[in-house]
Parts: sequence; C-alpha cells; structure tokens
Amino acid sequence: MAFARLLAGLLAISGSVLAQSSTSYTDPDNGITFQGYTDAITDVTYGFVFPAGSDSDDEFIGEIISPVTNQWVGIALGGTMLNNLLLVAWPYDDTVVYTPRYATSYTLPTLYTGPTITALPSTSVNETYWKFVYRCQNCTDWIGGSIDLTSTNSTLAWALSTVAVDDPADPDSAFAKHTDDGAFYENYYAAQSADYYNYA
Ligand code: HEM
Ligand SMILES: *[C@@H]1O[C@H](CO)[C@@H](O)[C@H](O)[C@H]1NC(C)=O
Ligand SMILES: *[C@@H]1O[C@H](CO)[C@@H](O)[C@H](O)[C@H]1NC(C)=O
Ligand SMILES: *[C@@H]1O[C@H](CO)[C@@H](O)[C@H](O)[C@H]1NC(C)=O
Repeated sequence: MAFARLLAGLLAISGSVLAQSSTSYTDPDNGITFQGYTDAITDVTYGFVFPAGSDSDDEFIGEIISPVTNQWVGIALGGTMLNNLLLVAWPYDDTVVYTPRYATSYTLPTLYTGPTITALPSTSVNETYWKFVYRCQNCTDWIGGSIDLTSTNSTLAWALSTVAVDDPADPDSAFAKHTDDGAFYENYYAAQSADYYNYA
C-alpha cells in the first residue's frame, strides 16, 4: 500500500513533465484488448477499441473502470468540455447508468441525441470498483467535432466527482460540477482492431 502510494506519487511527478499516453492492455474480465490509460492519482481506467480500417459504422467499444468512491465519471471525446460529445456514467445498485451529454457553456451538460449506447455484459459493480463496458454507435462524429482514427496522439479529457448525482436511476439526472478533471493522449490509430466485431 505504501509502495503503491509512493509509485502513484512518482508517476504523478513524471506525469507533469512527460505526456500521459495511452497504451495497449487486455481486460481479463472480457478479453477485449483496449488502447487506454489509467490515471495514477484517481485510479480510473479509460479504454477504447475501434473497427479496423475506415470506421464507416462510426462506432467504438469503450470501458471506464472506477473506484466506487467516484459517483460519476465522464469522458470528453473531443478533449475539452465544450462543444464535444460527453459520455457520463455512474453506478446504480448492481449496474451502471449512462448518458450522452453536450455543453455549450460551463454549466450542467444536457442530454445529447444521436449516439446509441449499449452496456456490454462485463459491465459490473463490486465493493471496490464499478466497471462500464459499452458499445457506442454513431459516436465518432458530433456537432462541432469528430474522432480522427489516423491520429496517434489526440487529447481525450475526463472529469469525475465524488459527489453523487441527484437521481441515479435517471440518465437525465442533474449533478454538480466535477471534483477533478484531466486529460491524456489517445492513440486512435493503434486503437483499431481486426477483432472488433468479435468483441461487439
Ligand atoms: C454541472 C456540471 C458541470 C459544470 C458546472 C462544469 C463546469 C466546468 C467549469 C467551470 C470548467 C472550467 C475550469 C474549472 O473551473 O475547473 C470546467 C472544465 C472542464 N469540464 Fe466541466 N462541468 C460540468 C460537467 C462536466 C462533464 C459532465 C464533463 C465530462 C464528461 C466535463 C469536463 C470538463 C473538462 C474536461 C474540463 C477541463 C477542460 C475544459 O475546460 O474544457 N465537465 N467544467
Ligand atoms: C503527444 O502530444 C503531446 C503534446 O503535443 C506531446 O507532449 C507528447 O509527447 C505526444 N506523445 C506522443 C506519444 O507522441
Ligand atoms: C447520429 O448522431 C447525430 C448527432 O451527432 C444525429 O443528428 C443523427 O441523427 C444520428 N444518426 C442516427 C442514424 O441516429
Ligand atoms: C472488482 O471489480 C474490479 C473491476 O472489474 C476488478 O478488477 C476486481 O478484481 C473486482 N474485485 C473483486 C473482489 O471481485
């Protein structure tokens, strides 16, 4: 434990100097190989995998693995909060509630219509972590932006809160501003997989 904290501290120091880039990892719970990133301080993992070649279906599979202390976690696919597709998720009983959102100002993001999001079976909640594994269709283009699968180094932002949303059963729930936010560099090019449709 002390070592883990020390290591997290060292990584945090180096993180402020070096870029925090995605790497390839395989989640043993679902066998999916993601291109993703684990934040050393918050211990949240963000993973992504896309169909190989041109993504004509505009989709990807993602996962968020978070300590239960986080009451919601969101990603900003375009790298900033404003004018980007935001995906927000939170644990609710033994499952995870999810909601596509959009913001044009620094206020509560509203529901965004367009994406078709499906929770995959390895979505789970236990005493220490909640895990949201999802297929996101019609999710690579949105009003004002898109994901570029030829990019090896795109900013992908996250935000989270240790404060629960107002009504966790409701995907349209209000919630308060994040207690933490950050970003990392996603290698979208390397996130393409020939196994994609086996995963989906
Ligand atoms: C009630 C909800 C929210 C409020 C009031 C809010 C407010 C703000 C404000 C005022 C900032 C400017 C910097 C700062 O003051 O910390 C900010 C930054 C940020 N927010 Fe939010 N936010 C909300 C929800 C979200 C959600 C759901 C996401 C992602 C899914 C998100 C992602 C970000 C990110 C990545 C930044 C830093 C980069 C940037 O400025 O775009 N926020 N937010
Ligand atoms: C990604 O871009 C950032 C900022 O432009 C840079 O600091 C970092 O070294 C780049 N990482 C890779 C793996 O190219
Ligand atoms: C895809 O999403 C966009 C919004 O980004 C929406 O306008 C469009 O109707 C959606 N397409 C389908 C087929 O649902
Ligand atoms: C809880 O879930 C996390 C994320 O899936 C997993 O890594 C961990 O092993 C699980 N813990 C237990 C006790 O099952």
